[in-house]
Amino acid sequence: MDLKELIKKIEEDARFCGQIFYNADRSSLDISSKEGQNNFVTKYDKMVQEEIKKRLAVTFPDAVFVGEEEAEHAPVDKGWVFVVDPIDGTANFIRDFHMSCISIALLKDGDPVLGVIYNPYAEEMFTAIKGEGAFLNGEPIHVSDKELSGGFIIFGSASYYDDIRDKSYEILSRYEKKALDTRRSGSAALDMCAVACGRAEMFFELRLCPWDYAAAGLLVKEAGGAAHRIEGGDLTYDRNCSVFAANALCKDEWKNMV
Ligand code: IPD
Ligand code: CA
Ligand code: CA
Repeated sequence: MDLKELIKKIEEDARFCGQIFYNADRSSLDISSKEGQNNFVTKYDKMVQEEIKKRLAVTFPDAVFVGEEEAEHAPVDKGWVFVVDPIDGTANFIRDFHMSCISIALLKDGDPVLGVIYNPYAEEMFTAIKGEGAFLNGEPIHVSDKELSGGFIIFGSASYYDDIRDKSYEILSRYEKKALDTRRSGSAALDMCAVACGRAEMFFELRLCPWDYAAAGLLVKEAGGAAHRIEGGDLTYDRNCSVFAANALCKDEWKNMV
């Protein structure tokens, strides 16, 4: 499999599907509630998922599809598997906040080897192939060389989970004092892309799903940064986990986090 040829096609699939939510008819989003607190889904999350599933099946028929909005998820540990978030940043999408993306990871035997994240609002296409570096709109990207003291922390408040809300803010309060400032975008994939391209120095969120970080984790690592669980240890793709991502200078900050 030539991943360089494949990623070009996946970029086109992502671009097409990004336009679906970019051009959404905002008068009929059909918003409904999902499991967890303040967790919503719209007809566009489902529509984008259907379209990307159809397109990826043509682009790479050997791969199994796992999408956030599916009722059941296929195993990810064997063979080729796409792990897809059709809209990361659904709450932003609902509010027309212009900070959402489509995120596509391709796993080989449980390990991400390719990632494509497209933000149609900024026309930004983040791409990475394992071992080949990370790119933004075709240009190589790298994590920053700033220390935390001069850096941005981006954090996710894990807002769907009441049990870890206080803990998230307790960690943030400790780390914010050591940094320049804090940001919260509402899209974990874009947060991690921001670390990958040097717009921020460190990211954490106490609980995310594999489709939030599968592509973005690869992006960060290929851009010279670190991405793993906050407690240490590899990100998991068959279940939720915490996520820490950072540039090389901040890569040890996870050690006293939880
Ligand atoms: C959410 C976003 C958000 C993060 C949540 C995620 P969704 O994904 O990435 O930034 O804080 O934990 O679940 O629901 O918009 O796909
Ligand atoms: Ca998501
Ligand atoms: Ca989503």
